[in-house]
Amino acid sequence: MIRKITFLTGLLLVTASSKAQLPVYLDESKPVEQRIEDALSRMTLDEKIAVIHAQSKFSSPGIKRLGFPDFWTDDGPHGVRPDVLWDEWEQAGQTNDSCVAFPALTCLAATWNPQMARLYGESLGEEALYRGKSMILGPGVNIYRTPLGGRNFEYMGEDPLLASRMVVPYIQGLQSKGVAACVKHYALNNDEEYRHQVNVIVSDRALHEIYLPAFKAAITEGKAWGIMGAYNLYQNQHNCHNVTLLNKILKEDWKFDGIVVSDWGGCHDTDEAVRNGLDLEMGSWTDGLVMGATNAYDRYYMALPYKRLIQRGVYSTAELDEKVRRILRTFYRTTMRGDRQIGFLCSESHYEAAREIARQGIVLLKNDAAADPSKGKSAKSALLPVDVKSMKRILIVGENAVKMMTVGGGSSSLKVQREILPLDGFKSVARSINPDIEIDFARGYVGDTVQSYNGVTVGRSLYDIRPASELMAEAVEKARQADCVIMFGGLNKSDYQDCEGHDRKNMDLPYGQNELIEALVAANPRFVFVNISGNAVTMPWLIKVPAVVQGWFIGSESGTAIASVLTGQVNPSGKLPFTWYSRLEDCGAHALGTYPGTWREGEGIIDEEYKEDIYVGYRWTDREKSAKPLFAFGHGLSYTTFGLGKVRSDRESMTADDEITFTVSVTNTGKTAGSEVVQLYISDLKSSLPRPVKELKGFEKVYLEPGETKDVSITIGRDALSFYDDTVQDWVAEPGMFEALIGTSSDRISSKTRFRLE
Ligand code: BGC
Repeated sequence: MIRKITFLTGLLLVTASSKAQLPVYLDESKPVEQRIEDALSRMTLDEKIAVIHAQSKFSSPGIKRLGFPDFWTDDGPHGVRPDVLWDEWEQAGQTNDSCVAFPALTCLAATWNPQMARLYGESLGEEALYRGKSMILGPGVNIYRTPLGGRNFEYMGEDPLLASRMVVPYIQGLQSKGVAACVKHYALNNDEEYRHQVNVIVSDRALHEIYLPAFKAAITEGKAWGIMGAYNLYQNQHNCHNVTLLNKILKEDWKFDGIVVSDWGGCHDTDEAVRNGLDLEMGSWTDGLVMGATNAYDRYYMALPYKRLIQRGVYSTAELDEKVRRILRTFYRTTMRGDRQIGFLCSESHYEAAREIARQGIVLLKNDAAADPSKGKSAKSALLPVDVKSMKRILIVGENAVKMMTVGGGSSSLKVQREILPLDGFKSVARSINPDIEIDFARGYVGDTVQSYNGVTVGRSLYDIRPASELMAEAVEKARQADCVIMFGGLNKSDYQDCEGHDRKNMDLPYGQNELIEALVAANPRFVFVNISGNAVTMPWLIKVPAVVQGWFIGSESGTAIASVLTGQVNPSGKLPFTWYSRLEDCGAHALGTYPGTWREGEGIIDEEYKEDIYVGYRWTDREKSAKPLFAFGHGLSYTTFGLGKVRSDRESMTADDEITFTVSVTNTGKTAGSEVVQLYISDLKSSLPRPVKELKGFEKVYLEPGETKDVSITIGRDALSFYDDTVQDWVAEPGMFEALIGTSSDRISSKTRFRLE
C-alpha cells in the first residue's frame, strides 16, 4: 500500500514537473494568444512560409519540428469528398473514404429550419473528423441571382436573411466538432461562366444589402474560422486578394480572426496576396507549372517568390507573421485541440440526419386534383399523396429515377456508401404500404449516361441507344396502363447544368423532357412530375400537370425521402428559397441584359454590372408586376391546411434601440399533422431611398397536430428596418411608418399591421 502511494506521488511529481517544462505553445492551461506568440517566436522563416501555402491538392504542412500536424481540408459542402492523389484531382482509390451525402444546400435552405442546419453541420463534422479533415470547404452562401447559375445548388437561395439564418447553425454545428468551416465563395461569385474573368460592378448598397449579409452572419455570428476567396474580380481586383473585401470589410469591419483561404488557383499575384489579406494559398498554377511538377508548391505566389522578397528586404515579416498567427490560431482550434475527437463515418445517425433534412426540404409546388376523363371532370381530391393502397400499378418514368446524383457537378462530387435512387426508394416504400403493388419503369428519355467523376464511378450502366421516339412511345404505352405515373426528371450534374465551371445555357428542361411530359399527361392525367435540380426550370405544361414536387439533389437518402413525401408518410413542409420565374426574362439580371456582361477589348476581363441592384428575386418580381413568378419565394404546399389569425404586435411604436414582437396564432385546420413556416416581411412605407416592396425579416417553422393551435412570435429590431445608404456608407433606420406582413409565402400574406419607428 505504502509502495503504491509512493509510486503515485512520484508519478504526480513527474507529471507536474514535465508540465512545468511544457513550452507555452503546448501548454493548454495558457491562453491561446500567448501560445500563438510562443509558437511564432520559435518558427524559422522557412516554416512560416511553408504553413501559408499548400503542399498537396488539399493539405498544407504543419510544423513537424514543433509537433503541429499537417492541416487537411476537403470539400464540402454536402459530404466529405473522397481522398484524391497527392497532387492530382483523381481519387486516390481508398476503400475507407465513402461517406454519407447530405442534401444539397438548396434543400437545406428549403427546410427553413435552422435546427436542420445545426444537425447538418454536426453530422458532417463527425464524418470529417473520422476522415482526418480539419476544414470543410463550405458552406456556400453566394446569392441565387439567376436561375442559370451552375452552382446555385450548393448555395442557400436568393434571400440574405434566409441564407444568414441557415448558415450560422451549420457553421456552429460543424465547428462544435473541432472542424473549421470555410465559408465560400467570398464574394459576388454568382456566375460560373467565366468565373475567373468576371469583374463584378455592383453598388455598395446591393453589396451590403444583398450579397454580403450571409457572409457577415457567418463571420460575426457563426464565428467561422475560415473563409474562401472567390475566383472573380471586384473593383478590378481578384477576390482572393481583394483589398476592400478582405482587409477592409472582412478583417477590419467584421473583425474576422480566422484564415482567408484562396479558392483553388484563385491567387494570381504575390504582392496583392501579401498585402491584401490572403492567409493560405491553395491550388495555384504559377510560372506555367504543369501537373505533377516536383517543385510546384515551392513556386506558389506565397512560397519561394514571397520568401525571396522578404530576404531582399522588400517586405518585413510583419505581414507574414500576421498570416502565420491566423494559421496557428486555426491549428489550435482544430488539429491542436486537446479534446479532439475521432468522429465516425456513415453512422445510422448520419443517415437519419440526411433523411430528416431531406424530408423537411422537399417542396410540394403544386397539388391539384387530376382530371378524370371517364367522368369528364376532375377527381375530388388532390392527386398527392399517391393513394398506393387503392392502386394496382404505378409507373415510374425518367432517367433521374435511376441516376446517381452524388457523383458529378464539380468539387462537391462525392463517393457515397449508399445512395437510394428514386425508383428503388419508391418501390420499397410503396410495397411497405401495399405489398401487391406493381411498380413499372420506363426510361422515357436519355440524358447523360456518363456516371463518373475523377475516378469515382457508379457501377450501374445507364447506356440506352434507343431513339427518343421509341423511349417516349414505350413510356406513353405503359402510362396508359398505370393507375398513376410519376416522372423523375429535371437537371443533372453534367456540364452546363447544375455543375461547377459553367452556367446553364437556358432555363428549359433538357433532353426533350417537355415533350415527354406533355405526352405522358395526355396519356394519363394522374401524372406527377418530380423535378430533381438545384435550379428553377421553365414549365410550359404546368397548367396541364396536376402535381409537381421539387426534389432537389438530396444525396444518400434521396429515394426514401422523396417516396415518403409522395406516399404521404411524410407531410411536405419545404418552402422555396428562391423565386421560381416563369421565364428567364422575368429575372432582373436577364430583363436588364446584364448577364453575362461585356468583354473588355483584349484584356480577358468581362465586366458584369448588377444593374438590377438590390432588386434580386422577389424584390424584383414584387416591383415588376408583369413578372409574376410560377412559384413565389417562400412557396410550398402541405397535405394539410393552416389557418393564421390576425397578426398582433406588442407595441405601436418603437425607437431604434427597441425591439418589436409580432405574434400570430397558427392552426392546423386539416386532418394531417404537419409543419408550416410563418414568414414575416417588412415594408418601409415611406423612405428617402427607394426600397423593395417588402423584405423577409424573420420566420419560424411550427409543427402542429390536426386541430392544434400555437402562437408564433417573431421579434425584430433596428437591423430589420435599416437600409444601406451609400452616401454615408452605413446602415440607416429612418423614422417613419412601417408595415409588418405575415404570411406563408411571399405571395400569400394573411395579415398586416403598421408600426412607427420614432
Ligand atoms: C471550387 C471550390 C472548391 C475547390 C477545391 C474550386 O474549384 O471553386 O469550391 O472548394 O475547388 O476543390
